[in-house]
Amino acid sequence: MKTLLLLPGDGIGPEVTAEVRRVVAWLADHAGLRLEVAEAAFGGASIDAHGVPLTDAARDAALASDAVLMGAVGGPRWSGVARAIRPEAGLLGLRTAMQVFANLRPVQCFDALIDASTLKPEVVRGLDIMIVRELTGGVYFGQPKGIETLPDGSRRGIDTQVYTTAEIERVARTAFDLARRRGNRVCSAEKSNVMDSGLLWREVVTDLHARDYADVALSHMLADNVAMQLVHNPRQFDVLLTDNLFGDILSDEAGMLSGSIGMLASAALGAPGTPGLYEPIHGSAPDIAGKGVANPLAAIMSLAMALQLSLDEADLAARLVAAVSAALDGGARTRDLGGTIGTREMGDAVIAALAAG
Ligand code: IPM
Ligand code: MG
Repeated sequence: MKTLLLLPGDGIGPEVTAEVRRVVAWLADHAGLRLEVAEAAFGGASIDAHGVPLTDAARDAALASDAVLMGAVGGPRWSGVARAIRPEAGLLGLRTAMQVFANLRPVQCFDALIDASTLKPEVVRGLDIMIVRELTGGVYFGQPKGIETLPDGSRRGIDTQVYTTAEIERVARTAFDLARRRGNRVCSAEKSNVMDSGLLWREVVTDLHARDYADVALSHMLADNVAMQLVHNPRQFDVLLTDNLFGDILSDEAGMLSGSIGMLASAALGAPGTPGLYEPIHGSAPDIAGKGVANPLAAIMSLAMALQLSLDEADLAARLVAAVSAALDGGARTRDLGGTIGTREMGDAVIAALAAG
Protein backbone atom coordinates (compact mmCIF):
# COMPACT_ATOMS: atom_id res chain seq x y z
CA MET A 1 0.00 0.00 0.00
CA LYS A 2 1.24 3.50 -0.83
CA THR A 3 1.80 5.98 1.97
CA LEU A 4 1.12 9.69 2.27
CA LEU A 5 2.69 11.79 5.01
CA LEU A 6 0.68 14.86 5.95
CA LEU A 7 2.54 17.81 7.45
CA PRO A 8 -0.20 20.27 8.48
CA GLY A 9 2.25 22.87 9.80
CA ASP A 10 1.10 26.34 10.82
CA GLY A 11 -1.52 29.01 10.26
CA ILE A 12 -4.22 27.76 7.93
CA GLY A 13 -2.17 24.61 7.21
CA PRO A 14 -4.03 22.37 9.69
CA GLU A 15 -7.41 23.59 8.43
CA VAL A 16 -6.73 22.95 4.76
CA THR A 17 -4.99 19.60 5.34
CA ALA A 18 -7.97 18.45 7.42
CA GLU A 19 -10.03 18.75 4.23
CA VAL A 20 -7.39 16.73 2.35
CA ARG A 21 -7.78 14.02 4.97
CA ARG A 22 -11.56 14.00 4.49
CA VAL A 23 -11.18 13.74 0.71
CA VAL A 24 -8.71 10.85 1.11
CA ALA A 25 -11.14 9.12 3.48
CA TRP A 26 -13.97 9.53 0.97
CA LEU A 27 -11.85 8.17 -1.88
CA ALA A 28 -10.85 5.21 0.32
CA ASP A 29 -14.45 4.45 1.27
CA HIS A 30 -16.05 5.00 -2.12
CA ALA A 31 -13.49 4.91 -4.90
CA GLY A 32 -11.12 2.10 -4.00
CA LEU A 33 -8.17 4.26 -2.97
CA ARG A 34 -5.72 2.28 -0.88
CA LEU A 35 -3.51 4.78 0.89
CA GLU A 36 -2.00 4.83 4.35
CA VAL A 37 -2.00 8.35 5.78
CA ALA A 38 0.42 9.39 8.53
CA GLU A 39 0.95 12.80 10.06
CA ALA A 40 3.88 14.63 11.67
CA ALA A 41 4.46 18.02 13.26
CA PHE A 42 6.25 20.50 11.00
CA GLY A 43 7.33 24.14 11.01
CA GLY A 44 6.30 26.27 13.96
CA ALA A 45 4.12 23.49 15.34
CA SER A 46 7.20 21.28 15.47
CA ILE A 47 9.25 24.06 17.10
CA ASP A 48 6.60 24.26 19.83
CA ALA A 49 6.51 20.50 20.32
CA HIS A 50 10.12 19.48 19.70
CA GLY A 51 12.26 22.63 19.56
CA VAL A 52 13.09 22.28 15.85
CA PRO A 53 10.98 22.85 12.70
CA LEU A 54 11.78 19.43 11.22
CA THR A 55 12.71 16.52 13.44
CA ASP A 56 14.91 13.69 12.18
CA ALA A 57 11.93 11.39 12.66
CA ALA A 58 9.66 13.56 10.49
CA ARG A 59 12.37 13.81 7.82
CA ASP A 60 12.88 10.04 7.84
CA ALA A 61 9.11 9.49 7.64
CA ALA A 62 9.00 11.83 4.63
CA LEU A 63 11.82 9.98 2.88
CA ALA A 64 10.09 6.65 3.53
CA SER A 65 6.71 7.79 2.15
CA ASP A 66 5.51 7.78 -1.45
CA ALA A 67 4.26 11.35 -1.17
CA VAL A 68 4.39 14.16 1.37
CA LEU A 69 1.68 16.81 1.50
CA MET A 70 2.28 19.89 3.62
CA GLY A 71 -0.08 22.68 4.63
CA ALA A 72 1.99 25.77 5.31
CA VAL A 73 4.74 26.97 7.63
CA GLY A 74 5.53 30.13 9.55
CA GLY A 75 3.81 32.98 11.29
CA PRO A 76 4.41 35.92 13.62
CA ARG A 77 4.45 33.64 16.64
CA TRP A 78 7.90 32.39 15.61
CA SER A 79 9.36 35.66 14.41
CA GLY A 80 11.72 35.69 17.39
CA VAL A 81 13.25 32.23 16.97
CA ALA A 82 16.82 31.83 15.76
CA ARG A 83 17.03 31.86 11.96
CA ALA A 84 18.56 28.41 11.80
CA ILE A 85 15.46 26.88 13.37
CA ARG A 86 12.73 29.16 12.03
CA PRO A 87 9.72 27.40 10.49
CA GLU A 88 10.84 28.25 6.94
CA ALA A 89 14.19 26.59 7.63
CA GLY A 90 12.26 23.39 8.24
CA LEU A 91 10.71 23.62 4.79
CA LEU A 92 14.02 24.37 3.10
CA GLY A 93 15.57 21.48 5.05
CA LEU A 94 12.81 19.14 3.90
CA ARG A 95 13.20 20.18 0.26
CA THR A 96 16.94 19.55 0.54
CA ALA A 97 16.56 16.22 2.32
CA MET A 98 14.07 15.03 -0.31
CA GLN A 99 16.19 16.52 -3.15
CA VAL A 100 13.04 17.75 -4.85
CA PHE A 101 14.73 20.06 -7.33
CA ALA A 102 11.84 20.62 -9.73
CA ASN A 103 8.83 22.53 -8.43
CA LEU A 104 5.79 22.31 -10.70
CA ARG A 105 3.32 25.12 -10.14
CA PRO A 106 0.41 24.87 -12.57
CA VAL A 107 -1.60 28.04 -13.13
CA GLN A 108 -5.02 27.53 -14.61
CA CYS A 109 -8.14 29.60 -14.50
CA PHE A 110 -11.27 27.55 -13.89
CA ASP A 111 -14.06 28.93 -16.08
CA ALA A 112 -16.22 29.50 -13.01
CA LEU A 113 -13.54 31.76 -11.53
CA ILE A 114 -12.92 34.06 -14.46
CA ASP A 115 -14.62 36.90 -12.65
CA ALA A 116 -12.68 36.27 -9.43
CA SER A 117 -9.44 37.25 -11.14
CA THR A 118 -8.43 40.88 -10.89
CA LEU A 119 -7.52 40.70 -14.57
CA LYS A 120 -10.01 41.10 -17.39
CA PRO A 121 -11.82 37.89 -18.40
CA GLU A 122 -10.43 37.99 -21.93
CA VAL A 123 -6.89 38.02 -20.52
CA VAL A 124 -7.26 34.95 -18.29
CA ARG A 125 -9.86 32.80 -20.04
CA GLY A 126 -8.42 29.40 -20.93
CA LEU A 127 -5.12 30.15 -19.23
CA ASP A 128 -2.85 27.12 -18.72
CA ILE A 129 0.71 27.77 -17.59
CA MET A 130 3.11 25.35 -15.93
CA ILE A 131 5.76 27.13 -13.91
CA VAL A 132 8.81 24.96 -13.33
CA ARG A 133 10.78 26.49 -10.48
CA GLU A 134 14.22 25.23 -9.48
CA LEU A 135 13.78 24.43 -5.78
CA THR A 136 16.95 23.20 -4.11
CA GLY A 137 19.56 25.68 -5.28
CA GLY A 138 20.16 29.33 -6.07
CA VAL A 139 20.13 32.20 -3.63
CA TYR A 140 18.07 30.24 -1.08
CA PHE A 141 21.01 27.97 -0.38
CA GLY A 142 24.16 29.59 -1.84
CA GLN A 143 27.15 30.22 0.42
CA PRO A 144 28.36 32.55 1.82
CA LYS A 145 25.18 33.71 3.48
CA GLY A 146 24.64 35.72 6.62
CA ILE A 147 24.84 39.11 8.28
CA GLU A 148 28.29 40.30 9.33
CA THR A 149 29.57 43.34 11.20
CA LEU A 150 32.21 45.35 9.39
CA PRO A 151 35.24 46.96 11.11
CA ASP A 152 33.48 50.34 11.13
CA GLY A 153 30.57 48.82 13.05
CA SER A 154 28.11 48.86 10.15
CA ARG A 155 26.58 45.60 9.06
CA ARG A 156 26.45 43.75 5.75
CA GLY A 157 23.91 41.14 4.64
CA ILE A 158 25.05 38.52 2.17
CA ASP A 159 23.23 35.99 0.03
CA THR A 160 24.85 34.15 -2.82
CA GLN A 161 23.16 33.21 -6.08
CA VAL A 162 24.90 30.14 -7.41
CA TYR A 163 23.99 27.49 -9.97
CA THR A 164 26.00 24.65 -11.44
CA THR A 165 25.54 23.25 -14.92
CA ALA A 166 24.10 20.03 -13.49
CA GLU A 167 21.54 21.88 -11.36
CA ILE A 168 20.33 23.90 -14.33
CA GLU A 169 20.28 20.98 -16.71
CA ARG A 170 18.22 18.60 -14.56
CA VAL A 171 15.43 21.12 -13.92
CA ALA A 172 15.48 22.21 -17.57
CA ARG A 173 15.02 18.57 -18.57
CA THR A 174 11.92 18.43 -16.41
CA ALA A 175 10.57 21.52 -18.15
CA PHE A 176 11.25 20.19 -21.67
CA ASP A 177 9.77 16.78 -20.84
CA LEU A 178 6.63 18.43 -19.48
CA ALA A 179 6.34 20.71 -22.50
CA ARG A 180 6.26 17.71 -24.82
CA ARG A 181 3.13 16.52 -23.03
CA ARG A 182 1.50 19.99 -23.19
CA GLY A 183 1.88 22.87 -25.64
CA ASN A 184 5.49 21.98 -26.57
CA ARG A 185 6.83 25.44 -25.66
CA VAL A 186 9.33 26.42 -22.95
CA CYS A 187 10.11 29.99 -21.97
CA SER A 188 13.21 30.21 -19.78
CA ALA A 189 13.45 33.22 -17.47
CA GLU A 190 16.61 34.64 -15.91
CA LYS A 191 18.51 37.94 -15.67
CA SER A 192 21.37 37.10 -18.01
CA ASN A 193 21.75 40.82 -18.68
CA VAL A 194 23.10 41.43 -15.17
CA MET A 195 23.75 38.08 -13.49
CA ASP A 196 26.51 35.64 -14.44
CA SER A 197 24.50 32.77 -13.00
CA GLY A 198 21.72 33.94 -15.31
CA LEU A 199 24.07 33.91 -18.29
CA LEU A 200 25.13 30.35 -17.45
CA TRP A 201 21.46 29.44 -17.04
CA ARG A 202 20.71 30.69 -20.56
CA GLU A 203 23.71 28.89 -22.07
CA VAL A 204 22.96 25.57 -20.38
CA VAL A 205 19.28 25.66 -21.36
CA THR A 206 20.23 26.57 -24.94
CA ASP A 207 22.78 23.74 -25.16
CA LEU A 208 20.44 21.14 -23.69
CA HIS A 209 17.71 22.22 -26.07
CA ALA A 210 19.97 21.86 -29.10
CA ARG A 211 21.25 18.49 -27.92
CA ASP A 212 18.07 16.72 -26.78
CA TYR A 213 14.96 18.84 -27.24
CA ALA A 214 15.18 20.59 -30.60
CA ASP A 215 11.54 19.61 -31.27
CA VAL A 216 10.38 21.85 -28.39
CA ALA A 217 9.99 25.59 -29.08
CA LEU A 218 12.37 27.42 -26.71
CA SER A 219 12.38 31.12 -25.93
CA HIS A 220 14.33 33.14 -23.37
CA MET A 221 12.96 36.13 -21.51
CA LEU A 222 14.39 38.36 -18.82
CA ALA A 223 12.61 37.68 -15.54
CA ASP A 224 11.43 41.27 -15.06
CA ASN A 225 9.84 41.19 -18.49
CA VAL A 226 8.17 37.88 -17.57
CA ALA A 227 6.65 39.64 -14.55
CA MET A 228 5.16 42.21 -16.91
CA GLN A 229 4.07 39.74 -19.58
CA LEU A 230 2.27 37.62 -16.96
CA VAL A 231 -0.24 40.40 -16.42
CA HIS A 232 -0.12 41.73 -19.97
CA ASN A 233 -0.66 38.54 -21.96
CA PRO A 234 -0.32 35.47 -19.74
CA ARG A 235 -1.64 33.06 -22.36
CA GLN A 236 1.59 33.41 -24.36
CA PHE A 237 3.22 31.04 -21.82
CA ASP A 238 3.10 27.26 -21.82
CA VAL A 239 5.95 26.00 -19.62
CA LEU A 240 7.82 28.73 -17.77
CA LEU A 241 11.22 27.59 -16.50
CA THR A 242 13.01 29.65 -13.89
CA ASP A 243 15.24 29.62 -10.84
CA ASN A 244 14.34 29.38 -7.17
CA LEU A 245 13.90 33.07 -6.29
CA PHE A 246 12.34 34.24 -9.56
CA GLY A 247 10.06 31.20 -9.44
CA ASP A 248 8.93 32.08 -5.93
CA ILE A 249 8.01 35.59 -6.99
CA LEU A 250 6.55 34.85 -10.42
CA SER A 251 4.38 32.02 -9.06
CA ASP A 252 2.78 34.30 -6.47
CA GLU A 253 2.10 36.80 -9.22
CA ALA A 254 0.69 34.12 -11.51
CA GLY A 255 -1.48 32.93 -8.63
CA MET A 256 -3.66 35.97 -8.98
CA LEU A 257 -4.38 35.09 -12.60
CA SER A 258 -6.29 32.05 -11.41
CA GLY A 259 -8.60 34.15 -9.26
CA SER A 260 -6.93 33.54 -5.93
CA ILE A 261 -3.64 32.28 -4.62
CA GLY A 262 -5.90 29.99 -2.58
CA MET A 263 -6.30 27.93 -5.75
CA LEU A 264 -2.69 27.12 -6.54
CA ALA A 265 -1.27 23.67 -5.94
CA SER A 266 2.28 22.53 -6.44
CA ALA A 267 4.40 19.42 -6.75
CA ALA A 268 8.08 19.22 -6.00
CA LEU A 269 9.81 16.30 -7.66
CA GLY A 270 13.26 14.78 -7.47
CA ALA A 271 14.77 11.81 -9.25
CA PRO A 272 12.29 9.23 -10.60
CA GLY A 273 11.14 6.83 -7.91
CA THR A 274 11.74 9.23 -5.03
CA PRO A 275 8.82 10.70 -3.04
CA GLY A 276 7.27 13.97 -4.19
CA LEU A 277 6.51 16.92 -1.94
CA TYR A 278 3.13 18.55 -2.52
CA GLU A 279 2.21 21.99 -1.21
CA PRO A 280 -0.44 24.60 -1.70
CA ILE A 281 1.57 27.70 -2.51
CA HIS A 282 -0.50 30.14 -0.47
CA GLY A 283 1.45 30.01 2.77
CA SER A 284 0.22 30.12 6.34
CA ALA A 285 -2.01 33.25 6.10
CA PRO A 286 -1.83 34.03 9.85
CA ASP A 287 -4.45 36.78 9.48
CA ILE A 288 -7.19 34.24 8.77
CA ALA A 289 -5.78 31.20 10.59
CA GLY A 290 -8.10 29.33 12.93
CA LYS A 291 -11.20 31.04 11.61
CA GLY A 292 -12.35 28.25 9.31
CA VAL A 293 -12.48 30.54 6.29
CA ALA A 294 -9.38 29.49 4.32
CA ASN A 295 -9.83 28.04 0.86
CA PRO A 296 -8.82 24.35 0.96
CA LEU A 297 -8.81 23.92 -2.82
CA ALA A 298 -5.07 24.51 -3.28
CA ALA A 299 -4.41 21.74 -0.76
CA ILE A 300 -7.02 19.48 -2.37
CA MET A 301 -5.54 20.17 -5.82
CA SER A 302 -2.11 19.34 -4.35
CA LEU A 303 -3.57 15.98 -3.35
CA ALA A 304 -4.72 15.55 -6.96
CA MET A 305 -1.16 16.20 -8.13
CA ALA A 306 0.13 13.66 -5.59
CA LEU A 307 -2.38 11.07 -6.79
CA GLN A 308 -1.23 11.63 -10.35
CA LEU A 309 2.51 11.99 -9.94
CA SER A 310 3.47 9.89 -6.90
CA LEU A 311 0.64 7.54 -6.04
CA ASP A 312 -0.19 5.88 -9.37
CA GLU A 313 -3.79 7.03 -9.23
CA ALA A 314 -4.13 9.20 -12.33
CA ASP A 315 -7.82 8.32 -12.74
CA LEU A 316 -8.67 9.41 -9.21
CA ALA A 317 -6.62 12.56 -9.74
CA ALA A 318 -8.66 13.46 -12.81
CA ARG A 319 -11.86 12.67 -10.91
CA LEU A 320 -10.81 14.93 -8.06
CA VAL A 321 -9.95 17.83 -10.37
CA ALA A 322 -13.32 17.39 -12.09
CA ALA A 323 -15.03 17.46 -8.67
CA VAL A 324 -13.26 20.71 -7.75
CA SER A 325 -14.36 22.20 -11.05
CA ALA A 326 -17.94 21.00 -10.49
CA ALA A 327 -18.00 22.42 -6.97
CA LEU A 328 -16.95 25.80 -8.39
CA ASP A 329 -19.49 25.53 -11.20
CA GLY A 330 -22.09 24.87 -8.50
CA GLY A 331 -21.23 28.21 -6.93
CA ALA A 332 -19.05 27.13 -4.00
CA ARG A 333 -16.93 30.17 -3.08
CA THR A 334 -14.76 30.80 -0.06
CA ARG A 335 -14.06 34.40 0.90
CA ASP A 336 -10.93 34.71 -1.23
CA LEU A 337 -13.15 33.88 -4.22
CA GLY A 338 -15.69 36.49 -3.31
CA GLY A 339 -18.05 34.11 -1.49
CA THR A 340 -19.02 33.39 2.08
CA ILE A 341 -18.61 29.66 2.72
CA GLY A 342 -15.93 28.29 5.03
CA THR A 343 -13.12 25.75 4.72
CA ARG A 344 -15.24 22.83 5.83
CA GLU A 345 -18.14 23.73 3.51
CA MET A 346 -15.77 23.91 0.55
CA GLY A 347 -14.53 20.43 1.50
CA ASP A 348 -18.17 19.32 1.67
CA ALA A 349 -18.83 20.78 -1.79
CA VAL A 350 -15.92 18.83 -3.30
CA ILE A 351 -16.98 15.63 -1.59
CA ALA A 352 -20.57 16.14 -2.75
CA ALA A 353 -19.30 16.63 -6.29
CA LEU A 354 -17.19 13.46 -6.03
CA ALA A 355 -20.25 11.58 -4.87
CA ALA A 356 -22.35 13.03 -7.69
CA GLY A 357 -19.70 12.32 -10.33
C1 IPM B 1 6.88 29.12 -1.33
C2 IPM B 1 7.13 29.87 -0.07
C3 IPM B 1 8.46 29.44 0.54
C4 IPM B 1 9.54 29.80 -0.45
C5 IPM B 1 8.77 30.01 1.94
C6 IPM B 1 7.68 29.71 2.93
C7 IPM B 1 10.10 29.51 2.44
O1 IPM B 1 7.07 31.24 -0.30
O2 IPM B 1 6.88 27.87 -1.29
O3 IPM B 1 6.67 29.75 -2.37
O4 IPM B 1 10.01 30.94 -0.49
O5 IPM B 1 9.93 28.91 -1.20
MG1 MG C 1 6.41 31.74 -2.23
